[in-house]
Amino acid sequence: MKNILSMSQFSNQEVYDLIDSAMGFKAGEKSDAGMNKYAMNLFFENSTRTKSSFQVAEMNLGMREIAFDASTSSTTKGETLYDRVKTIESIGASVAVIRHSEDEFYNELLKHDLNIHLINAGDGTGQHPSQSLLDMMTIAEHFGQFEGLKVGIIGDLSHSRVAHSNAEILTRLGAEVSFGGLDSWYTPEFAEIGPHMDVDDLCREMDVVMLLRVQHERLSADENKAFSKEDYFKEFGLDMRRVDMMREDAMIMHPAPVNRGVEIADDVVECDKSYIFKQMQNGVFMRMAMIEAVLKGEDTSDENINTKRQ
Ligand code: CP
Repeated sequence: MKNILSMSQFSNQEVYDLIDSAMGFKAGEKSDAGMNKYAMNLFFENSTRTKSSFQVAEMNLGMREIAFDASTSSTTKGETLYDRVKTIESIGASVAVIRHSEDEFYNELLKHDLNIHLINAGDGTGQHPSQSLLDMMTIAEHFGQFEGLKVGIIGDLSHSRVAHSNAEILTRLGAEVSFGGLDSWYTPEFAEIGPHMDVDDLCREMDVVMLLRVQHERLSADENKAFSKEDYFKEFGLDMRRVDMMREDAMIMHPAPVNRGVEIADDVVECDKSYIFKQMQNGVFMRMAMIEAVLKGEDTSDENINTKRQ
């Protein structure tokens, strides 16, 4: 594959292959697929986890990072995204990891014949493929398969690229996806996938309870004004009372950042059923697998790839 832009681009087999590859890295396999290559991480929205774990993944593959800071780049002089990516291609970068506030920002770039691999690190409210793939890895690691798994996604669905990516791929892999949170966030695209349920029922019935942050930055001023943290936590938040309703082997997941006391109680974040920090750990290995996959995609024959797995 040349680029990684959306979960819809993957066959189920490609998702399983990426999970296998990431598990191999986690088990200690090495790759020098990125040796003597440069990566640039162009983040136009804030990030802690995604940016830093792409940086670690790039270094683990032998790549060097060209530093980029949106606030001091020529973005402020009106440079377009295409000109920026064409510039880093020209100076020799092989991979551009991009997070952008615009949905499907990459469509404009795909109109041009760019000789650089593009990885979507989150587009507006659209997709978050690297988060989704690391989530699939974390679920596969725990349950071994997806067929028939019951997954409840609770929170700000309509603004969540994680909800869009995960609802799509989990359904395709055979899981049954249900939803919780404010009715207004349960838009028709989610209603086509699965039911909207009460949070107590989701906690009793699901194998995976996946929480989402309320994205205040994407809510209107009126929506933010009407929002009460206390009311939200009471109706939709995961506290220990609800954790105790969950099945013995059920998982709690959250892409983070978490808002403690809003969608999740402080003492639930690191409780026994929580896989939140395991997700972050797995993110490095999955991002290594993704970068290796696009770098491999630039050659037609595996013999041409400077990849040494040990
Ligand atoms: N999960 C996630 O995308 O986190 P960051 O916004 O910190 O990258």
